[in-house]
Amino acid sequence: MPNIVVVGTQWGDEGKGKVVDLLAPHVNVVARFAGGNNAGHTVVVGREKYVLHTIPSGILHPGCRCVIGCGVVVDPGSLIEEMESLVQRSVTLDGNLFISKNAHLIMPYHPALDRASEAMLGKRRIGTTGKGVGPAYVDKAARVGIRMADLLNEGLFREKLELNVAQKNRVLREIYDAQTFSVEEILNQYLRYAGWLAPYITDTALLLSRWIDNGYSVLFEGAQATMLDVDHGTYPYITSSSTTAGGASTGTGVPPTRIHGVLGVSKAYTTRVGGGPFPSEMSGAIAEEIRARGHEYGATTGRPRRCGWFDAIVGRYAVRINGLDTVALTKLDVLDQCETVKLCVGYRYRGEVLTEFPEDENVVAEAEPVYEEVEGWRAPTGGAKNEADLPAKARRYLERLEELVEVPFCLISTGPQRDETILCEDSPLLRWFPSVRSSLT
Ligand code: IMP
Repeated sequence: MPNIVVVGTQWGDEGKGKVVDLLAPHVNVVARFAGGNNAGHTVVVGREKYVLHTIPSGILHPGCRCVIGCGVVVDPGSLIEEMESLVQRSVTLDGNLFISKNAHLIMPYHPALDRASEAMLGKRRIGTTGKGVGPAYVDKAARVGIRMADLLNEGLFREKLELNVAQKNRVLREIYDAQTFSVEEILNQYLRYAGWLAPYITDTALLLSRWIDNGYSVLFEGAQATMLDVDHGTYPYITSSSTTAGGASTGTGVPPTRIHGVLGVSKAYTTRVGGGPFPSEMSGAIAEEIRARGHEYGATTGRPRRCGWFDAIVGRYAVRINGLDTVALTKLDVLDQCETVKLCVGYRYRGEVLTEFPEDENVVAEAEPVYEEVEGWRAPTGGAKNEADLPAKARRYLERLEELVEVPFCLISTGPQRDETILCEDSPLLRWFPSVRSSLT
């Protein structure tokens, strides 16, 4: 049974939640491998809308096991809130949710450090979600982080907490002139969380290995996206985890040799939240229109997203860095009213046209987009059941995108509902999950 990674190819919010939700009935396990509650995966099922931050979207499918891997940083208060809201909506967690013992905890001082650091960075601030994700990964790399397993050992938890609070309070007080924290308050709060979470905390790398031995199929659910990856993204305007396909291995303990393919999710245009370079960014009325039509506001923070045209340089870079086999293209319908649709096919930099994404942050910051323009289709794409039902000009746009990114598309999404999805002809998905055809047509 195939084990497949799903990653975002742009700056996040591509619609990975919907794609994972569509594929979840065809796999046995969905595993998250990076990020924390900075992510917001929106899934619409009939009239119900679910926004998941830490729990994999597979949880909405009875019988689908969901893993929060060691690469994820977990805010236990936010996770418990999410669990309670799912239980209230009759979603079964017991026997379906498994949290890695090695996943690091977001502690109350992490969001405080996140906010203080952003304030100090001034115009160079990242525009983080303020959830403490970056500082939690800092502690992980600095080897002072507190992990899920520590929650289950009160003595060890207290010892690690005391060391951390002493150090963080000094930094908060002396560098940032910010409020400090009390060990006892955090201890009491986190021991209550431990009572809630204990039944779900386990050695998920071992479980995944056994499940794969037994023929289970695993979908690795990426959070954030390629251009926000700590190594491969637009550093320093990135998140602090490995959000690209390689992260699926390190973030779950499943070796690369047991992973069979990678699916990228792209929007038919581009968005970005927070600071940092964005060569194909739109401005003026068209940006407003796309933002309104695409409901481009952060699922976690509610911030308006910056909108831009599809960037084929970014698309091809994502193919290379993740080894994408195929791309699911989402939100095509948002472009339905556009008179013309632009496509970024190169970056002009000091008289040269670049066709590969530049690693140098100064080059990206100065890059001017080179656009190709296609005529808009000015007709609804929502409700199309197959590619042939799409307006001819929309089909031409898709063909051009496919040609530029150099991998075949597998799905085209034309709305938030599960049934607003087209399975592409010869979709590479069928090689992995033949039963997708009957569920989507
Ligand atoms: P952090 O992950 O909160 O540290 O934020 C770092 C950068 O990643 C900021 O630009 C955020 O807006 C961006 N970011 C983090 N999570 C998401 C997401 O789920 N979607 C889009 N952008 C995100």
